[in-house]
Amino acid sequence: TKVGVLGVPFENGQPKIGVGNGPRFIRDGGLIQSLKEIHAYMDVVDYGDVTYTIDPQIQNVPNMKEYVHMVSCSREVTKRVTEIIKDGRVCLTVGGDHAIAVATVDGHIQAVSHDIILVWIDAHADLNTSHTSDSGNTHGMPVALLAKELSDYWPYLPGMDWQNPVMSIKNLVYFGLRAVDSYERLIIEKLGILAFGMEEIETYGIDACINMAFEKLDPDKQKSIHVSFDIDALDAFEAPSTGTPVRGGLTLREGVHIMEAVHRSGRLTAMDLVEVNPSIGSKKDVDITVSAAIHVIKAAFGFNRKGLKPSNVSDL
Ligand code: ARG
Ligand code: MN
Ligand code: MN
Ligand code: MN
Repeated sequence: TKVGVLGVPFENGQPKIGVGNGPRFIRDGGLIQSLKEIHAYMDVVDYGDVTYTIDPQIQNVPNMKEYVHMVSCSREVTKRVTEIIKDGRVCLTVGGDHAIAVATVDGHIQAVSHDIILVWIDAHADLNTSHTSDSGNTHGMPVALLAKELSDYWPYLPGMDWQNPVMSIKNLVYFGLRAVDSYERLIIEKLGILAFGMEEIETYGIDACINMAFEKLDPDKQKSIHVSFDIDALDAFEAPSTGTPVRGGLTLREGVHIMEAVHRSGRLTAMDLVEVNPSIGSKKDVDITVSAAIHVIKAAFGFNRKGLKPSNVSDL
């Protein structure tokens, strides 16, 4: 497997400082080495961190905090993700807050130029527009920015002309929802978005949910897959160091189970791991959260809990 790792130390999509240090802590927690150790054929390239400069031409948009940062960073991230995928690598983007996913998904779609499946694993739906958001935080808006079906509900977004919504919401599935705002709920129901919230996961079990999702979204098994994994999808006990923790979430085992299924599909093309904030909680909280993030990533790239037989031994 060829992997390209990209860090995006972006934290202007929400008010809590520290989430921009996510890439550094996750690398220091052993990300690159853990990926290389999955099996002998891992080919891992670290593309470093994205930097960007603010475009002074861009104006602000009401109720989108730090909009200018988001637009300026997104342009850069889109380019980098497209390049990495065109280099023939699965692009792993490490955040940063979830506002960066507008650009990673856009970059993915531009690289493959066909339909993709978007698997959004999160306690939150991140489906607010600037009109419906109570917080004005853009990390609660990426799905709404990506969705074709919602493009009429946005005001003019200066500097985002490059970003024509490229996704149909029909290609989206949610896992782990449990903190959904009322307008987000309305949109999920009106548009019939496929969503396995915590109740459905309890009712059917995680394995049945992921199978239903793949069967519904891509019965022909052809589309490339983008996973956007917000660490707050995991229960607040499993991943305490995050800006908007919610209890009653996925266990690490459920998170790993989803990612193992994604790996087995053979079609993972891009993954985001976002919202790890090393400034929240104790040192132990941070260690638990970083290690949870690395476990989920390893599962996505083929780490097998069963253990692998030595590759030089064909039979015992
Ligand atoms: N729905 C809330 C909002 O719009 C919370 C969003 C949390 N998003 C996240 N990526 N953690 O502000
Ligand atoms: Mn979230
Ligand atoms: Mn575009
Ligand atoms: Mn999120």
